[in-house]
Amino acid sequence: MNIQREYLLENTFGLTSRAQWGCAIEHLTDVVAAQDFSEKNNLSMTCLGSGSNVILQPKLAGLVCSIRIQGINVIEESTDSVLVEVGAGVVWHTLVMESLKRGWFGLENLALIPGSVGAAPVQNIGAYGVEVAQLIVGVNIVDGFRDSRQIKRKDCQFVYRSSIFRSRPDWIIVSVVFRLSKLPAIESSYPELERALKDLPAAEPSAQNVADCVIALRRRKLPDPAEFANVGSFFKNPIVTIEVGSAMQNRGFKIFAHGQEYKLSAAQLIDYAGWKGVRHGDVGCWAQQPLVIVNFGAARCADILSFSKDVANSVFEQYQIQLELEPSLLS
Ligand code: EPU
Repeated sequence: MNIQREYLLENTFGLTSRAQWGCAIEHLTDVVAAQDFSEKNNLSMTCLGSGSNVILQPKLAGLVCSIRIQGINVIEESTDSVLVEVGAGVVWHTLVMESLKRGWFGLENLALIPGSVGAAPVQNIGAYGVEVAQLIVGVNIVDGFRDSRQIKRKDCQFVYRSSIFRSRPDWIIVSVVFRLSKLPAIESSYPELERALKDLPAAEPSAQNVADCVIALRRRKLPDPAEFANVGSFFKNPIVTIEVGSAMQNRGFKIFAHGQEYKLSAAQLIDYAGWKGVRHGDVGCWAQQPLVIVNFGAARCADILSFSKDVANSVFEQYQIQLELEPSLLS
């Protein structure tokens, strides 16, 4: 393993960012080597996946590791399900497509989400009616004492777009264990997906149909990071009390049940606050989905943070709802 100084960090926001020290981790043995290096040199240690959900300051202190561990391995298989361990460095969409090819179902609603498998549990990725937490059996980590162990799903503290892993940067996620079904069970309750599936000729949509519709919906609405640098949703959908939710509904906003509370659409708040398609210099809100902030060229981290602060302040002034960052801000 090659640990380099001034390590250039890959990210989908088009930001130039260098870590004081950095390396790629491809094998379990690299994890311990990186831990030894950080301890010996008294450096903090941070791990990144493919950099699709992070906002990076120009300089990051300490040792930053890009996790590249590969492998999709069946641990156990029965007639109706499969237990599969997937390396943290596998590209998420590759896993979704590979699963469909092998006749494993459950991940199809999560097609085309950018990022790596190891990053998926951290923010509990979710889209079109499915959250990854539903399919995870456990997350394999190496802790700060070099111990390898599995964090079982019940201990992962999965909630909307978060988990215990957000607060445990000392745990290095090396693989994720999923239980996938061999019998298709279509989840089509998300209204936009349901409408798209109804337009298909087939009476009973297949898991492949679901993946195809999700891919088409995402391509229509969300900017492709390869063309327009972005990190997906920039803010979380705010969770509010029943009282606040009802008051917002009376003001024309959609509300979604969320346990004993309501969830508001951050996209709708940003849209109604007047920011849809607004661009300042090289930073702007995407016109088809204003929840996504785009770096149209040479925006710096500070430009993005200043623009996003303006958006959040404007939403707060008009609706007294505080938007929270969805990606992680690393410095
Ligand atoms: N809306 C507007 N104006 C717009 C766009 C949307 O008012 O310009 C409203 C609409 O009422 C729409 C609602 O917002 O019904 C929800 O929009 P969408 O279906 O795009 O979902 P979202 O809640 O904005 C979430 C996830 C996305 C995920 C989609 C689809 C979060 C923070 N975001 O967005 O995830 O793809 O649902 O399931 O939960 C990501 O995390 O990076 C991401 C893209």
